[in-house]
Amino acid sequence: MAVDLLLGLQWGDEGKGKIVDVLTKNYDIIARFQGGPNAGHTLEFDGIKHVLHTIPSGIFHENAMNLVGNGVVIDPVIFKKELDNLSKFEGNFKEKLLISRKAHLILPTHRLLDAASEASKGKAKIGSTLKGIGPTYMDKTGRNGIRVGDLEMDNWQEKYRALANKHEAMIDFYNVQLQYNLAELEADFFEAVEVLKSLKFIDSEEYLYQAQKANKTILAEGAQGSLLDIDFGTYPFVTSSNTTAAGACTGLGVAPGKIGEVFGIFKAYTTRVGSGPFPTELFDQYGETMGRVGKEFGATTGRPRRCGWIDLVALKYAVQVNGVTQLIMMKGDVLSGFDKLKICTAYNYRGEKIEHFPFNIEAENVTPVYTEMPGWKEDLTKMTSASQMPKALNDYIEYLEKELEVPIKIVSVGPDRTQTIHR
Ligand code: GDP
Ligand code: IMO
Ligand code: MG
Repeated sequence: MAVDLLLGLQWGDEGKGKIVDVLTKNYDIIARFQGGPNAGHTLEFDGIKHVLHTIPSGIFHENAMNLVGNGVVIDPVIFKKELDNLSKFEGNFKEKLLISRKAHLILPTHRLLDAASEASKGKAKIGSTLKGIGPTYMDKTGRNGIRVGDLEMDNWQEKYRALANKHEAMIDFYNVQLQYNLAELEADFFEAVEVLKSLKFIDSEEYLYQAQKANKTILAEGAQGSLLDIDFGTYPFVTSSNTTAAGACTGLGVAPGKIGEVFGIFKAYTTRVGSGPFPTELFDQYGETMGRVGKEFGATTGRPRRCGWIDLVALKYAVQVNGVTQLIMMKGDVLSGFDKLKICTAYNYRGEKIEHFPFNIEAENVTPVYTEMPGWKEDLTKMTSASQMPKALNDYIEYLEKELEVPIKIVSVGPDRTQTIHR
């Protein structure tokens, strides 16, 4: 069986958590392949809202195993909190979780380094979630990291000490004001490591290989979004992993030829949290309405998300880079009541009209070119079938499908599991 992928096509927070939860009934294994607790994946059912950071979004289903893959970076402290939150609900969550031995660990000093690096950048800061993501991936590619499998070795604490000492010297180098008590942070960390060790560590590439041979169905769950990809995103305002489809191959050990469907998920408008260019960003009542009605606040940091019109130049780029085979459109309900909708179809790039995503999309280089469509007034949140959808929404969807050359198979009309229309 091929491995299907679900990934975000914008700057994250497209609604990946909700849709992975919806799709999990069709899968035996849900596997996160990159990112870490910078992610906040929200799912809602039975009137309860859950936010997951490291744990895959299939965890609430009896039928599926949930794997944290080798490409993920794990903070044991946050992982423990996630488990504590789950323990309030019924279910054998721990038994359904598997952790790759090759996943790297986020240490307390990685978080401090993230904070020091951001503080040293002043106005040029990335707007990191400060979860230590960048420094942990730096240690991974720098070949200094500590992996989950190391926790099974006797000498891991020596390795830890050497790395933490080096980090402290690096923090000093940044020469910024940073208040911290490392002993306290380490006490939490070592306690959380023990909890992590109570979970099942596996050689996950072998597990997934055998699962494929046994015809198990597997869905890889992306974090962040394509425009935050370390290579293809709006560098340097990106995260430190490959969020695009290729990241699932390296982040799970799945061969490229074994990838099946690629579900690309996007909002009916655009949001971004943190710094960096955003050509279709709005500073008027339309943007304000998107933020208010869409409750656009970061699931991890609580920061308000910047809002703007849908950007087809960026979306086409993401569809291409990922080889998207099916599209999923989220939050159409948030646009109900808009008299008009703008769609960015091209950029004016240094005086020239272009339709591809260029090297640099900073405001001084790029202004969006828009087409307009009528909005819809109807409340979508109770609709359950495509036949109930207003004409203006259908027209919007069909226009996007034509431009993106990929069918929109799911339209989400609210945060709850049930507010999902299949086309
Ligand atoms: P993720 O990071 O991609 O999983 O997305 P987040 O969970 O960070 O952000 C998506 C937010 O939108 C969450 O608060 C969801 O509950 C909510 N949401 C998801 N789909 C819809 C939808 O179709 N309509 C509305 N109004 N909210 C939605
Ligand atoms: P999910 O999986 C939205 C953003 C941060 C910042 C940049 C770098 O919930 O969609 P980092 O902490 O990785 O160093 O931050 O990336 N960012 C996200 N934005 N959703 C996310 O995850 C994000 N994860 C990181 O705001 O701009
Ligand atoms: Mg999120």
